[in-house]
Amino acid sequence: MSVQNPVFIALDFPEATVAWRFLDQFPADQQLAVKVGMELFYREGPAFVAALKERGYIVFLDLKLYDIPHTVGQATKNIARLGVDYLTLHAAGGVRMMTAAKEATLAAAHGPKLLAITQLTSFTEAELQATQQIAVSLNDSVIHLAQLAQQAGLAGVISSAYESQAIHEATSDEFLSITPGIRLLGDAQGDQSRVMTPTLAQQRGANGIVVGRSITQAVDPVATYEQVVTAFHKG
Ligand code: C5P
Repeated sequence: MSVQNPVFIALDFPEATVAWRFLDQFPADQQLAVKVGMELFYREGPAFVAALKERGYIVFLDLKLYDIPHTVGQATKNIARLGVDYLTLHAAGGVRMMTAAKEATLAAAHGPKLLAITQLTSFTEAELQATQQIAVSLNDSVIHLAQLAQQAGLAGVISSAYESQAIHEATSDEFLSITPGIRLLGDAQGDQSRVMTPTLAQQRGANGIVVGRSITQAVDPVATYEQVVTAFHKG
């Protein structure tokens, strides 16, 4: 698996035993990239994340930090001690908040790459406008937030693959566009709105994808993961 274009499996499971049972289906020598979100982290805490790192997984800790700069900086300092590879925070927290987090990662021995959430992939244009009452389109808002994240020195952003190309044009080719909201043809959309297949996401310029239910709920998760990786890496 190319670490340059990771396929992160979202471990959205209620507890560690279920997550380990899922992971144990994969060959032991396969270096998987996994995403731990709020559901599992709030249940199992840092010990589970440390155990994943010990077993060699690439770990994306998706805690979507959003608070005043000092608090986020201090939280990032503690998270950096876990040795995770990626960490999320909300771009809406502003440049000062993101800079505080970035400084905390620079001070750490193995600080994570920081990825800013732009607009959640569950939002539709109409829901976004009704909620945030912003004067610009969803697309323009995503681009603006990506530029703020770049200004703060972050590694990249999380958005839907629909915005990947525009994000690269407004930032740089190196600035990462990591995209959840991935579905295989025929999958249920669930609570997501801006969904796309792995192949299309790759063609639109996504540097990495996050796939949850399409893999975790599949009849054969290992085969489905391989299918997703092939589709994303070959385009
Ligand atoms: O099951 P599904 O593939 O929809 O899971 C997507 C994962 O990506 C979830 O863990 C969700 O929290 C996360 N995510 C997202 N949209 C964002 C950021 C993260 O769906 N903007």
